[in-house]
Amino acid sequence: MTPSDIKDPGLAEQGVRRIDWAWQEMPVLRQLAERVAADRPLAGRRLSACLHVTTETANLMRVLQLAGADLVLCASNPLSTQDDVAAALVGHYGIPVFAIRGESTEVYYQHINAALDHSPVLTMDDGADLVSEIHKTRPELVPQMLGGTEETTTGVIRLRAMAEAGALRFPVIAVNDAMTKHLFDNRYGTGQSTLDGLIRATNILLAGRTLTVVGYGWCGRGIALRAKGHGAHVIVTEVEPLRALEALMDGYRVMPLRDAAEQSDFIVTATGDKHVVDEAHLQVAKDGCVLANSGHFNVEINVPALESMAVGRQRPRDNVEEFLLADGRRLRLLAEGRLVNLAAAEGHPSAVMDMSFANQVLCAVHLATGAEPLAAEVHGVPAAIDREVARLKLSALGAEIDTLTDEQRHYLSSWQEGTV
Ligand SMILES: NC(=O)c1ccc[n+]([C@@H]2O[C@H](COP(=O)([O-])OP(=O)(O)OC[C@H]3O[C@@H](n4cnc5c(N)ncnc54)[C@H](O)[C@@H]3O)[C@@H](O)[C@H]2O)c1
Repeated sequence: MTPSDIKDPGLAEQGVRRIDWAWQEMPVLRQLAERVAADRPLAGRRLSACLHVTTETANLMRVLQLAGADLVLCASNPLSTQDDVAAALVGHYGIPVFAIRGESTEVYYQHINAALDHSPVLTMDDGADLVSEIHKTRPELVPQMLGGTEETTTGVIRLRAMAEAGALRFPVIAVNDAMTKHLFDNRYGTGQSTLDGLIRATNILLAGRTLTVVGYGWCGRGIALRAKGHGAHVIVTEVEPLRALEALMDGYRVMPLRDAAEQSDFIVTATGDKHVVDEAHLQVAKDGCVLANSGHFNVEINVPALESMAVGRQRPRDNVEEFLLADGRRLRLLAEGRLVNLAAAEGHPSAVMDMSFANQVLCAVHLATGAEPLAAEVHGVPAAIDREVARLKLSALGAEIDTLTDEQRHYLSSWQEGTV
């Protein structure tokens, strides 16, 4: 077996228990597991995955293994690895893992390259680091690539930029763009787990406090909705008029971040953009304000600016760093500005990852078994896969739906019938 690099193999037993717990919440993956164990559609395919090393990802790995894939896994974020899960994957499931919670940027890239030493024909990314590294430093892998899949918005943005520049050299499926992914994972998953991260890190009561959500995309909508449910006064800041209007009509206050910063007890970013909380906002932020990020990269809050403004700093709790400014204000940064829901909580609940990862399995099978090779572009998830995942989830939840009658099918597809 390929060697691994994990923190402590002795944590495996605890990891197995937690992976099994998550499995109970993943009925769509369980149904797919039965199907792929019989068909083995990925038999012998070398697959390198770069995902958050969590219990849900471990269950995805189990299903891919049952499908016959020859797997390795590395982390897609230095702070999100659950070391017991890494140990369980290696010790119990025999899947090589390169991931240690808290690894340096240098080790992070060593691990990405270790995963690429596996010589994959398929990649599975959360943030496009494998695809990017193949194109930048491992071009010899390009000719063998059947394709890759991409889990998150930020990765899809990077890949589309590569495709537009004519740089993308193999097909990638944007799993994030499946309805059964972003409508649920980004909205309800990020919504719940971001609030979980804020609360675990600070234990501050949200009721009656002012919380600003920066960015009203799928993640931002979920965070705002759940913060409102906790009794927070929610402000939304945006740069897109349509999204800002939607936030306003959803009942939130909308204003520029500079104004919001002066009154916010919490500022949470979810934009996929850089330095959205910048020095100008930090200069006016309210004393005691908690700064957290749920966007993919740790660049949404300008942490270097905060560090250079600080005259003192301390760590009052795990995942909290308090910066003292010259005028006496204290600003509290959570999880170094990295994904707060993964660093300070456990990431998305298993039940939403169930659908996202079912899309991953079906898209990997699609890349490996499709009749025609796909062009070197960013592809959407085939509608049939999206519908199949929704159908499996509904049936697992015991929900049934109506079907169109022949008369309705005919009516909906004809243009002749109108006002009667
Ligand atoms: N924390 C998680 O577990 C998790 C899960 C899914 C996605 N993500 C990441 O969260 C980020 C957002 O994802 P999404 O699906 O909501 O994206 P999205 O594209 O639907 O929404 C992003 C929003 O941010 C807005 N925005 C951009 N720059 C801004 C600025 N300077 N100020 C205010 N608003 C700004 C955009 O107009 C857009 O409405 C991405 O980085 C994505 O990869 C994180």
